[in-house]
Amino acid sequence: MISAKESTGLPLPHGASEPQVQAQPKVRARRWLGPFNPPMSDWRGKTVWIVGASTGIGRATAERLHGLGAQVVVSARKAQALADFVQSHAGSAALVLDVTDPDAVRAAAQQLLKAGPLDCVVYCAGHYQPMRADRMNLADMLRHNAVNYQGALFLLDAVLPALLARGAGHISLVGSVAGYRGLPQSLAYGPTKAALINLAETLYLDLRDRGIGISLINPGFVQTPLTAANAFEMPALLTPDQAAAAMLRGWSQGAFEIHFPKRFTLWLKVLRLLPTRLYFYLARQIAP
Ligand SMILES: NC(=O)c1ccc[n+]([C@@H]2O[C@H](COP(=O)([O-])OP(=O)(O)OC[C@H]3O[C@@H](n4cnc5c(N)ncnc54)[C@H](OP(=O)(O)O)[C@@H]3O)[C@@H](O)[C@H]2O)c1
Repeated sequence: MISAKESTGLPLPHGASEPQVQAQPKVRARRWLGPFNPPMSDWRGKTVWIVGASTGIGRATAERLHGLGAQVVVSARKAQALADFVQSHAGSAALVLDVTDPDAVRAAAQQLLKAGPLDCVVYCAGHYQPMRADRMNLADMLRHNAVNYQGALFLLDAVLPALLARGAGHISLVGSVAGYRGLPQSLAYGPTKAALINLAETLYLDLRDRGIGISLINPGFVQTPLTAANAFEMPALLTPDQAAAAMLRGWSQGAFEIHFPKRFTLWLKVLRLLPTRLYFYLARQIAP
């Protein structure tokens, strides 16, 4: 049977109606209102590679996915933490790597792809130090860029050709609400997360018709080693497991941007919409 879409353009007998002409807006409306990505909720037998999974959000996500039947591969630098994960999660695997080393990222990807297709790849590696412009530290700014952004590019370069060839798979980038707008103390971290947000949006536009899902994770505050040194009280603080649960919910809904907790992130979305002068005034009041 030829679908309305496939039959478009075929010559029709004189006087015949063109049902596909009326059906098309409905199809478009469904696509417009439907999920951004193919929803991912049945993880049984799916291979998921989480880069940045030795601690925090990445580890908690690996744990939850493993519990749902996924075959989880965890990567990061801390070999012992990864080995502990593998030992306590039967069927999982670990690949130790430093995301600032493109050869290591490529070699790990090749090893995994040789074993079979990757259903989901999550870039969760992150580096964070508060920094203000009057104490700018170029070396640490470049480290933020290398870990938070450039490493994501190495990962994309390593996995995207295989995903494109297969016309399937999902890539998820962990950004941050700190990438929405400029923030005090965020000189090194914020711009890398803004870059990831832009990267994810562009990837989505380029890949949505190629069968590849793209999602962007924008957490608020989560209690992990990354935020442990924060001297201020973190509003709406989540545990890593709560963050992982929110990510899984977002993936199951086929969301593009998965941000949480909403009671915090929705306020930041409002701030994002404000005119610059008003935003600067409020940002200085909230976080001097
Ligand atoms: N916690 C929050 O409030 C929060 C908020 C918004 C966004 N995020 C983002 O969430 C992601 C996860 O952070 P987290 O809070 O869960 O912190 P975390 O527990 O410190 O996790 C960071 C992960 O990145 C890995 N990593 C760091 N440098 C690496 C490198 N050079 N090569 C390979 N792996 C590296 C770490 O493993 P090794 O040290 O073993 O390499 C660790 O597994 C980050 O992208 C972070 O920016 C966190």
